Amino acid sequence: MDITIKELVYGSDDYEKSIDIRNEVFRKPWGLNIRDEDLTVDKDMQLFGAYLEDEIIGTIFLTEKDSETAQIKSVTLLPEYQNRGFGKYLMEYTENLAREQGYTKCFLMGRVSKLYFYEKMGYEKVGEPFDYQTIPHINMIKSL
Ligand SMILES: CC(C)(COP(=O)(O)OP(=O)(O)OC[C@H]1O[C@@H](n2cnc3c(N)ncnc32)[C@H](O)[C@@H]1OP(=O)(O)O)[C@@H](O)C(=O)NCCC(=O)NCCS
Repeated sequence: MDITIKELVYGSDDYEKSIDIRNEVFRKPWGLNIRDEDLTVDKDMQLFGAYLEDEIIGTIFLTEKDSETAQIKSVTLLPEYQNRGFGKYLMEYTENLAREQGYTKCFLMGRVSKLYFYEKMGYEKVGEPFDYQTIPHINMIKSL
């Protein structure tokens, strides 16, 4: 089965589904609800959905950190679609886009539990781990 990536329109039905996916994967297991947060920041990002057939199964967002550095956010796949190479595909797609847009570096705030994934994708740790939404994270960067 091949994955496709499509731009998500802020406020659309699939955007709403993307909030549910992020909530399932990133918040519910820790007793949190993403809808309690201010999600209007999403408006200013490039939002992408990962699709199998016409069903959205994951997300990845791209934004600017500074004039040279893009930032990847909300890399998520529903549990049943993890570990099939889709995450790597999402990252490569988004990094290529950032490169085309003129960025020379890509930054992200990774979960410490997913260090293996980001290190495999060529990211290096910056600084010390910190808690975000009660979960240990670490800043990471890669040259594009
Ligand atoms: C993190 C996530 C996006 C990774 O996507 P994925 O589709 O599961 O990962 P992939 O199958 O593309 O794997 C990419 C690489 O990591 C490797 N990998 C996967 N699990 C691994 C593990 N436990 N230890 C070491 N390497 C591992 C794979 O072998 C693959 O390497 P390869 O290309 O050399 O074969 C996905 O698991 C996910 O959505 N997790 C929940 C949400 C989350 O935590 N997101 C990150 C928040 S910062």
